[in-house]
Amino acid sequence: MKHSRNTLLFFTLFFISVLGFTLFFSDKAMAVAKSHEYGDIEMSHAVQNKSVMPVTFRHWTHRDKYTCRLCHVDLEFAQKAGGTGIVEADNRDGRYCGACHNGKLAFEVTLCARCHPKNQSEKNELDLKAKEDFFKLKKILPPARYGNKIDWITAENTGKIKLIDSLPGITMPQQNMVVNRRDEPRTPSLPGLPGIIFSHSKHVIWSGCGMCHPEPYALEAGKTAVTMKEIISGKYCGRCHGTVAFPLNDCSLCHSKPVTLKEEKTP
Ligand code: HEC
Ligand code: HEC
Ligand code: HEC
Ligand code: HEC
Ligand code: HEC
Ligand code: HEC
Repeated sequence: MKHSRNTLLFFTLFFISVLGFTLFFSDKAMAVAKSHEYGDIEMSHAVQNKSVMPVTFRHWTHRDKYTCRLCHVDLEFAQKAGGTGIVEADNRDGRYCGACHNGKLAFEVTLCARCHPKNQSEKNELDLKAKEDFFKLKKILPPARYGNKIDWITAENTGKIKLIDSLPGITMPQQNMVVNRRDEPRTPSLPGLPGIIFSHSKHVIWSGCGMCHPEPYALEAGKTAVTMKEIISGKYCGRCHGTVAFPLNDCSLCHSKPVTLKEEKTP
């Protein structure tokens, strides 16, 4: 009885908040991007007033091969669109995109038009090719509700994709990393809201430690005050959830039972 009343309270609360949040914050956090474009970043920071067209960086064509950490910690890509400030000389120097686009790991940076289409019709061609490739990949990976509509965690867990975490001769291997797989429970500030348990084990494979510590999260449980409004505006969990990882529409993946597999099984 008590249980069902709580459940009712929970859903009422959720309904009200979903309504409120979607009305007031229905921007990119409540991702409306198509599944094959979710996580795409139009890089146009440095190319303005230049003869080259903006570059579309697609997360899905890279996160099926590499960890987030490799790019965002070791190769120093900013976790903010336009934040890295890449120029052509960097890439030629073997930094950023050039760390891999060297003709060995991936096509060479001299193939300008593969990143900078010359005109709109070349851009449409690249987009169409990417779309076709996306649906080929999606077919062999487990499905999810939102975002790329790919369950990336299960894809990695079941070996359907194998993530590379270092580039020999360029970055240090991380196998000796001290791994924190603990769960960090939070007592939600709102009564009736189901507890949130942040699961390290679901994050460390992709994100290592440096993508979240020391910024935006202090290395002490409960130290960082977080609200849903800040998350929707792209802070804390919302830095990745709503841009690259599953979007915020999926309330119940965070606001639900404990998020670890082990605890989900207990009755
Ligand atoms: C692997 C993808 C890739 C390839 C290939 C590539 N670029 Fe770029 N290029 C980028 C990215 C990313 C940026 C930064 C875009 C931004 O943030 O505005 C950039 C920026 C530029 C800029 C603007 C900044 C600056 O240095 O003035 C020019 C010009 C440029 N590229 C020319 C070229 C030329 C010429 C080639 C071929 C010889 C080429 N690029 C090949 C990815 C690529
Ligand atoms: C191959 C390299 C690479 C990989 C792998 C990668 N990213 Fe990125 N990421 C980038 C680049 C490049 C940008 C754009 C940076 C810029 O514009 O300066 C970016 C941007 C972002 C942003 C900012 C988005 C925005 O809209 O402001 C976030 C958040 C992010 N990545 C998270 C992730 C997560 C989470 C993963 C793993 C699931 C990941 N990235 C994997 C290269 C990568
Ligand atoms: C960690 C290695 C790595 C980094 C860093 C990296 N790439 Fe790639 N990229 C690859 C690999 C591997 C492929 C697939 C093989 C190929 O197409 O040669 C690929 C494919 C691509 C493609 C073709 C598929 C698509 O998405 O349309 C583009 C375009 C591309 N990369 C752009 C970029 C840009 C722009 C950057 C930098 C902002 C970048 N890559 C950084 C490894 C990397
Ligand atoms: C995706 C983001 C993310 C990643 C990646 C991550 N953490 Fe955390 N970490 C958190 C959050 C969220 C908390 C809880 C913060 C809070 O409660 O204020 C936390 C808390 C902690 C704490 C404090 C625990 C306590 O009891 O005080 C430590 C220590 C920690 N993390 C270590 C690590 C290490 C080591 C790694 C890499 C193996 C790592 N974290 C990777 C997000 C992350
Ligand atoms: C990526 C994880 C994540 C997703 C997805 C998510 N939330 Fe949250 N939410 C949080 C965290 C973390 C907090 C902060 C909890 C605390 O410390 O009080 C929070 C707090 C809240 C609160 C408490 C009031 C406040 O502003 O802090 C409400 C209400 C809420 N979320 C509603 C929602 C709704 C509705 C959705 C779906 C549209 C949603 N959340 C999706 C992580 C998430
Ligand atoms: C640095 C980027 C990043 C940050 C910050 C981050 N996450 Fe995640 N999270 C990911 C990625 C990547 C995945 C893998 C699944 C995906 O890409 O959709 C993931 C997966 C999850 C899952 C597992 C979903 C499942 O299918 O089992 C939950 C739950 C989750 N995150 C909650 C949170 C909460 C709560 C916070 C804030 C306290 C947070 N995340 C912060 C990147 C991040």
